[in-house]
Formats: sequence, C-alpha cells, structure tokens
Amino acid sequence: MPSFRCIGPDSQDRRVPFAAGETLLRALTRARIQGVLADCGGGGACATCHVYLDPQWTHLSSSDDRERDMLSFCLDPRPTSRLACRVRLTDDCDGGLVQVAARQR
Ligand code: FES
Repeated sequence: MPSFRCIGPDSQDRRVPFAAGETLLRALTRARIQGVLADCGGGGACATCHVYLDPQWTHLSSSDDRERDMLSFCLDPRPTSRLACRVRLTDDCDGGLVQVAARQR
C-alpha cells in the first residue's frame, strides 16, 4: 500500500498509508493524525483541515476559488497550503511529506 510521511503539530513524524482516490483528510483521520479538526466533516466549509503539501506533489490539482477563500481564514497560510478534504490522493503521492498546520483556529 502506498504511504506518505506526515508531521503533526506535535512534531511527530508518522507514516500514513492511503488508497489512490481517497481524500487526504480520509487518510489522515484513519491514521488518527492529531491536529486535523475537520469541523465540517470534509465539506470544504470550515478550514480546520489545513495542511502543507509536499511541494513535489505538483500533479495534484490546485485549489479552486472556494478553497482559496477558505484558506484565507487559516493561520499561517503558505504557497503549499491546502484543505485536506479537497485533496484527492494519487499513487504518485507515495513517499511524499505532508505537514499539519500547527493551529487550525
Ligand atoms: S473538513 Fe472542513 S474544510 Fe476540510
């Protein structure tokens, strides 16, 4: 099974297995990664699933206008910021690195 590394807000570095086609949020919650609140349940409406993607994951579609609006409410947004519920993983994500934002609110 493909996997990526995830650094949580507690600085723990964990390996997260995933299935191609599932959302990044789904993989993170299944792995019980701390710091991903996902208050809206993956609806793209709360901005509490803020993560920093691996800059090499250029094959993933970029954020749309709605996601960019939501990201503007996040603390410490960066060029690689995404909402985990809006990112659909592909096999090419194998071996990548995701960082969960230190604070979601
Ligand atoms: S879970 Fe609410 S925006 Fe992603």
